[in-house]
Amino acid sequence: FLISLLARNAIGVLLNINNPSTYSRDDFPPNFIFGSGTSAYQVEGAATEDGRTPSIWDTIAHREFMGNGDIACDQYHKYKEDVQLMVDTGLDAYRFSISWSRLIPSGRGPVNPKGVQYYNNLINELISNGIQPHVTLFHYDLPQVLEDEYGGWLSRKIVEDFTAYADVCFREFGDRVSHWTTVNEANVFVLGGYNSGNVPPKRCSAPFGLNCTSGNSTTEPYIVAHNCLLAHASASRLYKTKYQDKQHGFVGLNIFLYWFVPLTNRTEDVMATQRANDFFVGWFIDPLVFGDYPDIVKKRVGSRIPSFTRHESHQVKSSYDFIGLNHYTTVYIKDNADAFIAEPRDFFVDMAATIIFKQDTVPTSVFPIEYSSGMQRSLEYIKEKYGNPPIYIHENGQATPSNSSLNDTSRVKYLDAYIGSLLDALRNGSDTRGYFTWSFLDLFELLDGYESSFGLYYVDFNDPDLKRYAKLSAYWYTNFLKGRNISI
Ligand code: NOJ
Repeated sequence: FLISLLARNAIGVLLNINNPSTYSRDDFPPNFIFGSGTSAYQVEGAATEDGRTPSIWDTIAHREFMGNGDIACDQYHKYKEDVQLMVDTGLDAYRFSISWSRLIPSGRGPVNPKGVQYYNNLINELISNGIQPHVTLFHYDLPQVLEDEYGGWLSRKIVEDFTAYADVCFREFGDRVSHWTTVNEANVFVLGGYNSGNVPPKRCSAPFGLNCTSGNSTTEPYIVAHNCLLAHASASRLYKTKYQDKQHGFVGLNIFLYWFVPLTNRTEDVMATQRANDFFVGWFIDPLVFGDYPDIVKKRVGSRIPSFTRHESHQVKSSYDFIGLNHYTTVYIKDNADAFIAEPRDFFVDMAATIIFKQDTVPTSVFPIEYSSGMQRSLEYIKEKYGNPPIYIHENGQATPSNSSLNDTSRVKYLDAYIGSLLDALRNGSDTRGYFTWSFLDLFELLDGYESSFGLYYVDFNDPDLKRYAKLSAYWYTNFLKGRNISI
């Protein structure tokens, strides 16, 4: 304790010697929520304990050699300690997900009382410490049994099973949880899971994907996206009809969002950038707001994209109280119209645009933008295009190698700049209601296991006790949240 107190003071001094940030927490609306997040498979561990069965993420992690979430941060046993860290950090809210296969081990049917008990314990611990639970229902971890039985999200049967699972969550926890996200990063789940094959269940649109053992259809991403939207809408409708009156909560869908910038100011690249927004963002948000996919997406994908019936369109439209966005960076878009005629087509051929990730190699004289301003621009794009829906930034953060020092100044600078950019969007009228850093702890990372880390807290995965250590970013966030003079 003494050491941590001393470290805190030393860091306090460190934090005060450089340029102060130009904003403080008081600049945000009083009811604006600041939090941090994780997801079940990435932190819970206890993968085979108390009746939990494997999810598709367990299967992939065990098939490949990048570690797995069997133990992860062991939050299943250490949740009290973690909630105490959240209190120390000054969080208003904690974003976490429920493991479907812990709650309903057969995917559908009997509910596991030990699963209910665990989430009750976690939620009660949060609430009694004044921290709001913001809960995600699906975060890449479908029960494997449903994948085996009928192909998981590829089948329309998922809508019924997902709704039944959501029903259990609303019934058991909805008296204390008021913010529900149905699907995390629906667009990345669909593209990574069924197009390029880099996230579970790692199916590919042949022959584009690397590392895939299954999947060979350029239609799958569109079918899965459609089923995600229908499942989201069905769960949302259930909430409105069965629980809203008593629980007064909010249901939303989450997608991943890049800020796209044309690689050059050629008309082709500018048009490709709009296409990229329609394919990446409009693919999900247009149906929620307008009741259908963007015209350009329907035109280019043709018969491979399912159509909404009138009834479905009606159900999907307005099936949200908020939209969750995971925003990390800005990328560049280059027109690739020639690809449109290429066969076979994958999603990126349909989009006819290439994403350029190597940001450093792009001459800044041509693209004089700060990446952090992508936060403001993304939020303003959503505001303008979709009539200013309520937004939560559900994820924002920076990865560093897992062996980096606790003195994570680059993460501090990143968070400072992105929160500042968010404030600019708020000042311009964006209806953003909360912000969560990703992630609270170092955890089992989706793309590279334990090789990289996003946490405010370092977890010593070599220590049998998995001790947590605050990074500079945790102290910085605390100072900001507790209204102290923040400087970086
Ligand atoms: C996306 C996912 O929601 C999360 O699981 C992942 O760890 C982070 N973003 C970073 O890749």
